[in-house]
Amino acid sequence: MNTPRPPPAHAPHLPLTDYYPTEQDRPAYLRRMFDNSAADYDRVEHMLAWGTGPRYRREALVRGGLKTGMKVLDVGTGTGLVAVQACSLSGNAALVTGIDPSPGMMAAGKLPGTMALIEGRAESLPFPDDHFDFLSMGYALRHISDLGVAFAEFERVLKPGGRLCLLEITQAQNRFGRWLLKNYLRGVIPLLTRFVSRQQDTATIWRYHWDSIAACVPPEQVLATLSAAGLTDVRRHLTLGVFSEYQACKVNPADPGRPG
Ligand SMILES: C[S@@+](CC[C@H](N)C(=O)[O-])C[C@H]1O[C@@H](n2cnc3c(N)ncnc32)[C@H](O)[C@@H]1O
Repeated sequence: MNTPRPPPAHAPHLPLTDYYPTEQDRPAYLRRMFDNSAADYDRVEHMLAWGTGPRYRREALVRGGLKTGMKVLDVGTGTGLVAVQACSLSGNAALVTGIDPSPGMMAAGKLPGTMALIEGRAESLPFPDDHFDFLSMGYALRHISDLGVAFAEFERVLKPGGRLCLLEITQAQNRFGRWLLKNYLRGVIPLLTRFVSRQQDTATIWRYHWDSIAACVPPEQVLATLSAAGLTDVRRHLTLGVFSEYQACKVNPADPGRPG
């Protein structure tokens, strides 16, 4: 019998054994869940965020420093809800690359044909060093096996002075906010998905989202792990108490005093 290995040093959370037995089973479990519910993702996201998702993602990318002409990598691109905003802000979809381990999610998106889509994971990026001006990641942080490994990869593929912006839902600070978010994501949304979804796994994946948010390491630890990966100008922008944007910059040795 195989003894389960301990979770990686910078795992975003301990294994969620209601869904998969050990850490080693997590990537395959997630890939299956995302593949199986991909056809419903955009519809449920639209309902969950009351149609505000595109505008919020766009504004977050602007706050993170995405500008016209930048070469962008969107990690955990899924159906492309962040990537489509990156295509518009960079001014040329050919400058944007999306990467995701779920082929089903990428196939379910409606992205410009000139944008590159690659199957892969944050922990092992198939790109050369110093390659991108900007790196985005929307709501995939909780699904990474080891944040330290992934953030070192982000630092490696960014050009000196390049910036990153990671979007994630984090626990509210007060008890009422936590209660509200829990009941919305774990109760209301899985119930509503029964009426609008075509796939069996859709309700489970949205319940999983809440459980992984609740189990996730606190924002301070994410910020410390970004700094430990050598990134600078590390900060968090918070909207409505739960929408976190982690922003950081790769050190520019030619200008060490001024990030970006
Ligand atoms: C909740 S979806 C987010 C999709 C999109 N970025 C958005 O803003 O709506 C999370 C995505 O992360 C992907 N993912 C899971 N594990 C990952 C990993 N280790 N590296 C990169 N992406 C991962 C999933 O396949 C899924 O498409």
